[in-house]
Amino acid sequence: MSFRGRDVLTILDFERGELEELFEEADVIRKRGVSGRPLEGKIMALAFFEPSTRTRLSFETAMKRLGGEAIGFTSEEAISVAKGESYVDTVRMLDAYSDVIVIRHKYDGAAKLAAEIARNPVINAGDGKQHHPTQAMIDLYTIRTLLGGVDGLTVGVLGDLKYGRAASSFILGLTHYKPRLVYLISPPQLAARREVLDQARERGLPYKEVNSLEEVIGELDVLYVTRIQKERFPDPEEYEKVRGAYVVTLELLQRRAKRELKVLHPLPKVDEIEPRVDESRFASYYEQARLGVPLRQALLLKLLG
Ligand code: NCD
Repeated sequence: MSFRGRDVLTILDFERGELEELFEEADVIRKRGVSGRPLEGKIMALAFFEPSTRTRLSFETAMKRLGGEAIGFTSEEAISVAKGESYVDTVRMLDAYSDVIVIRHKYDGAAKLAAEIARNPVINAGDGKQHHPTQAMIDLYTIRTLLGGVDGLTVGVLGDLKYGRAASSFILGLTHYKPRLVYLISPPQLAARREVLDQARERGLPYKEVNSLEEVIGELDVLYVTRIQKERFPDPEEYEKVRGAYVVTLELLQRRAKRELKVLHPLPKVDEIEPRVDESRFASYYEQARLGVPLRQALLLKLLG
């Protein structure tokens, strides 16, 4: 199916072949650049009802590098929602002003609702704890770039698998491939949600839930670390019980990990990776963040070009 005019709501909206096509386009952009200003005259609306650094700036950079323009807002206070305007009206207005809407919202399903209202494509840049499909595209693209592909790898996903939408989308994204095994590593309170596990199982992903990183670190080719999503805990006491539950230290990596292990993180990171790891050969998260721009360029070109 062509990408043109499609919504990007979950990573399962796309097939493996389509992701590969997207990655090839991103490779071309990375190696040869873009000729001319293919999206000149196009406008992207950034509707960020929740904070963001990388996602918003990399979408904006991607659009500008393609010759297009970006409008938008970055917090509810800044716009008429603060005056009581409904979400639906805000989406209608953005749809009338722009060619594509990139939306981030604290509520699950917010992007899907926007897509039902808008005529133009809607890209989900994070809805509550549920989905963050373009982050998953970047994550898979990073693994492909650094390790040649995902098939056959042993992958660990560490952290807040319950509230983390980046983690959930990454797990679902892995179901497009044939990794050897995926370890879902978390304290029991932050285990992946039923609906994510059900889909992973139905789609044939070989996974195992474990609580200890130490036990499995030696087997991993990729370790995907995530932040505890403090803001999504209904009860602050529950957060206190798990804060600092896991920290990836350089000592552990040097002692137990494969030499070629790649540590990924969607960022922002807080205290789940010891800062000393940043300078080590394991740290691949800055490269991952860099690859976000060509990947999002490729996506915008395919949706709008
Ligand atoms: C993530 C998000 O907002 O879900 N950030 C991102 O887009 N890279 C991860 C997070 O906030 O922990």
